[in-house]
Amino acid sequence: MSPETKPDFLINPEGLRIDGRRTDEMRPIELKVGVLKQADGSASIRQGNTYILAAVYGPRELHPRHLTINDRAYLRCVYRMATFSVPDRKRPAPSRREREISMVIANALKPALFLEDYPRAVVDVFIQVIQADGGTRCAAINAASLALADAGIPMKTLVPAVAVGKAEGKLLVDLGDEEDKYGGGDVPMAMLGTTGEITLLQQDGSFAKEELVEAMGMGVTAMKYILELQKEALKSAYTKKVAVEGEELDEYEDDLETDLGEAEIAGEEDE
Ligand code: CDP
Repeated sequence: MSPETKPDFLINPEGLRIDGRRTDEMRPIELKVGVLKQADGSASIRQGNTYILAAVYGPRELHPRHLTINDRAYLRCVYRMATFSVPDRKRPAPSRREREISMVIANALKPALFLEDYPRAVVDVFIQVIQADGGTRCAAINAASLALADAGIPMKTLVPAVAVGKAEGKLLVDLGDEEDKYGGGDVPMAMLGTTGEITLLQQDGSFAKEELVEAMGMGVTAMKYILELQKEALKSAYTKKVAVEGEELDEYEDDLETDLGEAEIAGEEDE
């Protein structure tokens, strides 16, 4: 990436953004499930130039033991940026920002999980940002949610996430890095795929009440779209897996058609 200079404008006279998108248009998203062999569950996401890997381990024994929660599993999320993920080398020591993002990601995902099924255990979610180009916390949630499903963690639903921001008086869906840096604000959000319950809502910059309401409406539309992509990614990974293992494909595809919100993602024995 070349050193960045502030662009002259973020929206051109035709109403298009620096990368040619309309204000309500997402960046291209590519989701892959089961990308890492060692992990119990994994996924990757490319959202524009943002590229992230998520790996899930567990449920497993929790160390250190003093973190144990008696009536449910501890969801431990660790969000880290690779030193080479940003134009200026990112210092390898965990930053305050990374710790905060780890916490908000865990809080966004927890309501989707049946953590009470695994008292005293831990579910570890490792998120590695390989390339950062805006919207990494939301892209991380999109991938982590798929990695949890891939690990067979009992879930009520998948969790899609997106950031809606503002530049030059217009609301913009799915901010890229320059829009994030030079725009007028940023509202990252996540929701439960089934109910639409909001599990992450942050705000950077100032928004009038009406703007915030409109931003959330745009975000929900985008998240519904992302949810469909997440379902497709899971379906495609498991269809391939079944084909390789030579099981009855048609039957399995029917199972995958069932509502992913009904806790069946992790397997029928949890019913
Ligand atoms: O990534 P996200 O929008 O969730 O978080 P942010 O703190 O609003 O960061 C916005 C963007 O700034 C990131 O996505 C990166 O592209 C960039 N960034 C950076 O260039 N250097 C850092 N040390 C941290 C973030």
